[in-house]
Amino acid sequence: AEQKATNVHWHDGEISRQDRQRMLGQKGATVWFTGLSGSGKSTVAVALEKALAEQGKLTYRLDGDNIRMGINKNLGFSAEDRTENIRRIGEVAKLFVDTGVITLSSFVSPYRADRDLVRELHEASGMDFIEVFVDVPLDVAEERDPKGLYKKARAGEIPNFTGISDPYEAPEKAELVLNSHEQSLEEEVAILLQLLTDRGILS
Ligand code: PPS
Repeated sequence: AEQKATNVHWHDGEISRQDRQRMLGQKGATVWFTGLSGSGKSTVAVALEKALAEQGKLTYRLDGDNIRMGINKNLGFSAEDRTENIRRIGEVAKLFVDTGVITLSSFVSPYRADRDLVRELHEASGMDFIEVFVDVPLDVAEERDPKGLYKKARAGEIPNFTGISDPYEAPEKAELVLNSHEQSLEEEVAILLQLLTDRGILS
C-alpha cells in the first residue's frame, strides 16, 4: 500500500533488535502457514507453539480469531480486503519478530503476491520468514468442513469462498510443504522444529 502520510520519519531508539534478542535469549522469526480453510493451519500452529513452549521459547500466534475480530474487523473477503488483511498481519508479525518473538501466523493467504510482499517486508529488514504450505486436496478440506462453510459456499451462500468460488494460489517457493492428510501432527511438529534448528532459530 502507498504511504499516505508525509513528513514522517523513522526514529531509532537506543535499544536494538539484537539487544532485545539478547535480553530474551532467543531470535524472532515468522512461520507463515498458508492453505485452504480446513487444511489444518491452526492445528499445526497450536501444536508447534506447545512444542516451542516446552523448549522455553516465547511465541505468539496470529490467526483469524485474534485478527479478524480486532485489528482487521473492518475487512471482508474481497481481493482488496484480503490483500490488506495480509499486509497488516505481515506488519504486525514484523513487530513481534522485532521484539524477538517467534510468530506463528495462520491465514488462508490465498494470493501469492500478498505472501511474497510479507516475505519481502521481512527479508528487507533481515528477518526470517518461513512459508509453510499446509497442502491438503480440496476434497479433503471440504470433507472435513469443520465450520460447515464449504457446504454453504457450494449452496452459493458465501461469495468468494477460497477453493470454491475464489482462487487459492499454491506457493512456489515455500520453505516447507506439509501434507496434513498423510502426516501425523507429531511428524509435522518434528519437521518444523528441525527446520527452525537448521535456520538457526532453535539450537
Ligand atoms: S484471508 O484470505 O487470508 O484473508 O483469510 P483469513 O483471514 O485467513 O480468514 C479465513 C477464515 O474465514 C472464514 N471465511 C472464509 N474463508 C475463505 N473465503 C471466504 N469467502 C470466507 N468467509 C469466511 C473461514 O472460516 C476461514 O477460516 P479457516 O480457519 O482458514 O478455516
